[in-house]
Amino acid sequence: MTAYNFDALEKEAREVIHNVSNQEDLETLRIKYLGKKGSVTALLKEIASVAAEERPVFGQKVNALRNSIEIFLTEKKRSFQSVSKKDPAFDSTLEGLKPNLGRLHPITKTIREICDIFVKLGFEVVDGREVETEFYNFTALNIPAEHPSRDAFDTFYTETGALLRSQTSTVQVREMQNRKPPLRIVAPGRVYRPDEVDASHSFMFHQIEGLMVDGRIAFSDLKGVLHIFLRRLFGQDLDMRFRPHYFPFTEPSVEVDVKWGNKWLEVLGAGEVNPKVFERAGYNPAKVQGFAFGVGVERIAMLRYGIRDIRLFFENDLRFLEQFQ
Ligand code: PHE
Repeated sequence: MTAYNFDALEKEAREVIHNVSNQEDLETLRIKYLGKKGSVTALLKEIASVAAEERPVFGQKVNALRNSIEIFLTEKKRSFQSVSKKDPAFDSTLEGLKPNLGRLHPITKTIREICDIFVKLGFEVVDGREVETEFYNFTALNIPAEHPSRDAFDTFYTETGALLRSQTSTVQVREMQNRKPPLRIVAPGRVYRPDEVDASHSFMFHQIEGLMVDGRIAFSDLKGVLHIFLRRLFGQDLDMRFRPHYFPFTEPSVEVDVKWGNKWLEVLGAGEVNPKVFERAGYNPAKVQGFAFGVGVERIAMLRYGIRDIRLFFENDLRFLEQFQ
């Protein structure tokens, strides 16, 4: 083997580098070891002239030595840099930079809170499609093509006859086709209607559909569940009322209002699932019964946060959005 004691060389280099007291001396040492005429550079050059059988081991050791010295030098250099932070230009008493925390959009927050209440009541959260067919948006929900009630769910169509769903009720039939009763689901999501945009209308808004189906799910069950839901959301002393209404897919149907200040405000539509909808979904209406409801998310968020203009939700003005922790 060669005459060099690599361990000793490394140990010596480590000590010398460790004892240096300023950046200039450190640079001098770097040149002494790794510069063009440095001692380790000389060893690297020597590799070529070492006897062939010793060359691999020799080469390995020289390279290891060089790597170690590079690490010693880098570490020492870093220690100088952290010390130099004590210089007067660095004020350790200054407040740190606050990371920009993201937050949930008030609509997302409202959807999550509503779904949480239903999850605690045993409902499952499911997803639906935004691009739908006439069958799921209308026909399966007992709204035939020429029926005037289609106007109430005014709809965007594509050129190929597909449509943007105008209500989350589409999820009712899709879920019933895919599984057997009993069923307890809520389905949040966007819906679209070609409405003129103003303080209370948007061409896109959010609904949460609810559906409960089992052997016997009476109107009183619907009433009980909606009472629990609205009181958990708005507070135990909330007043609410059920107003008779018409929806093609429920019978009987209601609109539900909550008392806000001295006014009654509509927050959802609901009813007992129309047997015709069960039939279209492949359920036997003689064997199952259920209720369905559809909640307007923006309406609820506007009430709870005292927001007067629905457009604020979709303009992405940070001054508005940052108020919702
Ligand atoms: N889909 C109805 C709407 O958009 C709401 C609704 C859902 C009513 C389920 C009854 C049952 O107005």
